[in-house]
Amino acid sequence: MRILIINGPNLNLLGQREPAIYGAQSFDDYLDTLRQAYPQVQIDYFQSNHEGDIIDRIHQAGYGNLSNLSNPSPCDGIILNAGAYTHTSIAIHDAIKAVTIPTIEVHISNVHTREPFRHHSFISPVAHGIIIGFGIDGYRLALEGLLKMLAR
Ligand code: DQA
Repeated sequence: MRILIINGPNLNLLGQREPAIYGAQSFDDYLDTLRQAYPQVQIDYFQSNHEGDIIDRIHQAGYGNLSNLSNPSPCDGIILNAGAYTHTSIAIHDAIKAVTIPTIEVHISNVHTREPFRHHSFISPVAHGIIIGFGIDGYRLALEGLLKMLAR
């Protein structure tokens, strides 16, 4: 089983960025514990602050072997926190629709208790499941759900 976690813009600063909202743990530390807890799963990780790079990585996960990208194997599912692109990106919405593997949408914070511009998601209508507001542990919850979904 091979799962790709994608984090969008500003999520490279987890642990430093607004810790009252996003927590004090870096994603690298969290990813280490997640990988140890799921040794049977290959967990790939990609973070980018650039919309097009996120789209390329979704295509690669779904179809593999895109010539200019380094890691050619397709994977079984995607866990995506698109950051602020969640609220703006029709292009990421279309990329998720363009691949057949399932995508789980994750948000660390409960976006619905925050500013109104965070209440709309372009990802939700094309996501197979959504985990919102459980802090960084949301990625583990998404992985649990995705593995169960793929086992069906
Ligand atoms: C976020 C919520 C978004 O509104 C915000 O732009 C982020 C992080 C979250 O994980 O809570 O960058 O996706």
